[in-house]
Amino acid sequence: MNILVTGGAGYIGSHTCVELLGEGFEVVVLDNLCNSSEESLERVEKITGKKLKFYKGDILDTEFLDRVFTENKIDGVIHFAGLKAVGESVKLPLMYYQNNVEGTVKLCLAMQKHGVKNIVFSSSATVYGKNEPPLSEKLPTGDCSNPYGRTKYFIEEILKDIYVSDNEWNIVLLRYFNPIGAHESGLIGEDPNGIPNNLMPYISQVAIGKLPKLNIFGNDYDTPDGTCIRDYIHVVDLAKGHIKAIEKVFEGCGIKTYNLGTGKGYSVMDIVNAFEESTGLKLNYEFAPRRAGDLPSVYSDPSLAEKELDWTAKYSIADMCRDTWNWQSKNPKGYKK
Ligand code: NAD
Ligand code: UFG
Repeated sequence: MNILVTGGAGYIGSHTCVELLGEGFEVVVLDNLCNSSEESLERVEKITGKKLKFYKGDILDTEFLDRVFTENKIDGVIHFAGLKAVGESVKLPLMYYQNNVEGTVKLCLAMQKHGVKNIVFSSSATVYGKNEPPLSEKLPTGDCSNPYGRTKYFIEEILKDIYVSDNEWNIVLLRYFNPIGAHESGLIGEDPNGIPNNLMPYISQVAIGKLPKLNIFGNDYDTPDGTCIRDYIHVVDLAKGHIKAIEKVFEGCGIKTYNLGTGKGYSVMDIVNAFEESTGLKLNYEFAPRRAGDLPSVYSDPSLAEKELDWTAKYSIADMCRDTWNWQSKNPKGYKK
């Protein structure tokens, strides 16, 4: 089977390419490299000892998409390509709607034209909005607090409409919780541009001495230690979930939605403590005001993925911290030389 991976040079995409190649799939990556580097794909080949095919280009470019589908017999698509910075999406909503929503529409039009009707989509727990955890797939969605989240919600709805119009499509919507960690080789990992927005890359850049200290956004939430709770998942577990999802698609699943999370919540302080324990380092941190839009507690009910995909997350928080630090310490500048 030949899988087109959009956004495959990125953080989750590159880890998924490793798993796909390991499972014997052929891989074609399409990425405009707006938030990634081709070096990640060279490292994927190094880890697996296998080759993949790379096209540099944009999902907004219809002629380019046509060329990719003409030159390759694609059996299914895993669609990661998208912009994901919450704060930036508030400032530049049109850029987010164009890139994520219009980009997905163009991708699906190209798929339809070439008779490819199998897709796995990277959605996010953010579509659950303010629902009370544990978050199950049955809950209503769409009450998102920012344009980024709404792009995920809108794309889910568009994909549902495509299925209603033509039930030959097989679609899996994957709602990720908080991916962290890196491949155990330390060759690939998360390499954010500029100052990281997310907790784990921020922690690891404080640990390596690139940033002076971590600001913990709020310690007065209604949680056991006052800091926010999230469902952190090792990126390799997440990547393995995509193998199960694309297999489900090839079984002819219709349209399905699954959470990919561990089902366990950890606070910001838990993560700081776990990182210090597994690395032996001391982190410089201080408490700061709450960050606008943060919810006190977000974690999944992962039971549907366990039941229908035969998938559960295996790695612990200690593993996630160890592998993050292994990647960061071996690549202090990320993929930059
Ligand atoms: P990433 O930025 O590392 O990967 C996204 C990739 O898509 C990048 O390589 C980027 O260059 C590429 N891309 C963006 N727009 C493109 C376009 N128009 N054409 C071609 N390529 C384009 O991000 P990631 O963390 O690997 O996330 C992958 C997907 O998972 C995204 O859709 C993201 O919204 C979703 N997601 C991520 C998280 C998270 O916390 N990391 C959580 C939930 C969902
Ligand atoms: N945090 C800090 N300091 C930092 C960064 C984060 O204290 O420097 C805290 C946040 O306040 C939050 C927790 O760490 O309580 C996790 O924050 P992240 O930014 O790492 O993750 P979020 O849960 O806010 O966001 C993630 C994804 C989004 C997605 C969202 C919804 O990054 O893309 O989950 O599920 F939309």
